[in-house]
Amino acid sequence: MALRAQRASWRRLTSVAIVMLAAIPLFLVRIDGAAALPTCDPSAPATCSLRQLADLAGIRIGSIAEPYEITDPVYASVLAREFNSVTPENALKWYATQPSEGTWDFSGADEILSFADDHDMTIRGHTLVWAQDAYTLAWVKSITDPVALKTVVENHITATMNHFAGKIHRWDVVNEPLASVGTLPSTSVFWSLGPEWIADAFRLAHTLDPSAELWLNEYGTDWVPGKHEALVALVSDLVDAGVPINGVGLQMHRLPGAVLDTEKFASQMRDFTALGLNVAVTELDIPISPDDPGALQSQALEYARVVSACLMVDGCVEVTLWGLTDGSTWLDSAGIFATPTRPLLFDNAFAPKPAYDAVRGVLAEAVSPTPPSVTQPPQITTASEPRLPATGSSTALLAAAGLLLVAGGLLVSRATSVGNQRRMQNQNTE
Ligand code: XIL
Repeated sequence: MALRAQRASWRRLTSVAIVMLAAIPLFLVRIDGAAALPTCDPSAPATCSLRQLADLAGIRIGSIAEPYEITDPVYASVLAREFNSVTPENALKWYATQPSEGTWDFSGADEILSFADDHDMTIRGHTLVWAQDAYTLAWVKSITDPVALKTVVENHITATMNHFAGKIHRWDVVNEPLASVGTLPSTSVFWSLGPEWIADAFRLAHTLDPSAELWLNEYGTDWVPGKHEALVALVSDLVDAGVPINGVGLQMHRLPGAVLDTEKFASQMRDFTALGLNVAVTELDIPISPDDPGALQSQALEYARVVSACLMVDGCVEVTLWGLTDGSTWLDSAGIFATPTRPLLFDNAFAPKPAYDAVRGVLAEAVSPTPPSVTQPPQITTASEPRLPATGSSTALLAAAGLLLVAGGLLVSRATSVGNQRRMQNQNTE
């Protein structure tokens, strides 16, 4: 009898121990949403998330979010696990924050900010002034008096930066100041303020938050002839004039099938670091042709080239992807390329693509004390099965729930981007 009782008590103890051991991964997940892979050994890249490797490399790896996306548990968990930085895709843009004069709405950006805080991520403040008429509200474009427009711009920068003072530490003060072909001035209404408008915007931003990093962001310098040189000239003038600028963001929306000259891109980034500035890849996406069977592999190599170039440059401090999954890319509703463009690291079901492995391999190689199994260019796996976070049963449940949610999320995503376009059209025809 006593023996049986002793055995039963051992069995109870053993069961308690098993339950406690099984709970450890759940505990790790709970205390740190990013700790999907408890230990990261860069010489075995598969044990690491992008975020863990980027932290080791001392760079920011970022993605984007809309407010409704972070309420999707799968989107949220992948975002927090893989990235240490988030850029609000639209929630900080003028059309979201001040849709009509003096009417402010920071709620969407506040939600993303709170998500970033909860997950120990930094936030890129994109953007205070976007110099594209197509994305400028009709009420702003209709202001023909430069003095009145200057006041409106100053009010916009002031109210936005004051709302986020001490919370957002880096801003794209001006986005896309150059004309698409690289010449100055562009047709943007903001150029009617005169050539000093960019310098004025930076000076004001610096006064409002002297501790914030102030960035200028531009697109197409990687493929529009002469545009890189035009940007260097613009930025050099700002630096020479003592304008408080800290960095230059290069969007890097790549073209399908393009092959980056890594050395040339690194050298272009050094043109900015030589001016004492930081540089970042801020909106990376690499669309592929829907009917190219080898596209996923060439896409992976192209991702590796872009990230390698950043890692080669002292002062390249960030690589941000313009989208988390292929299902949420802006490109599929932009009408630019044949769809689906599949330009990102995760497919529609949040499964990592070969491009993900490539980026992880490049980061791992940069931080590994011993050479990882991945060599340059990285070995690309062709595994296409979903490899959602290996964090125990909670993640499996999350993944299952997520796969169900993805379908709904896609519909919302499409509706939202169509909604965005309609909103712009309506506002611009008012
Ligand atoms: C895009 C968003 O992704 C879309 O949802 C929106 O409809 C238009 O803007 N360059 C930029 C980004 O600086 O802000 C743009 O984002 C993509 C091009």
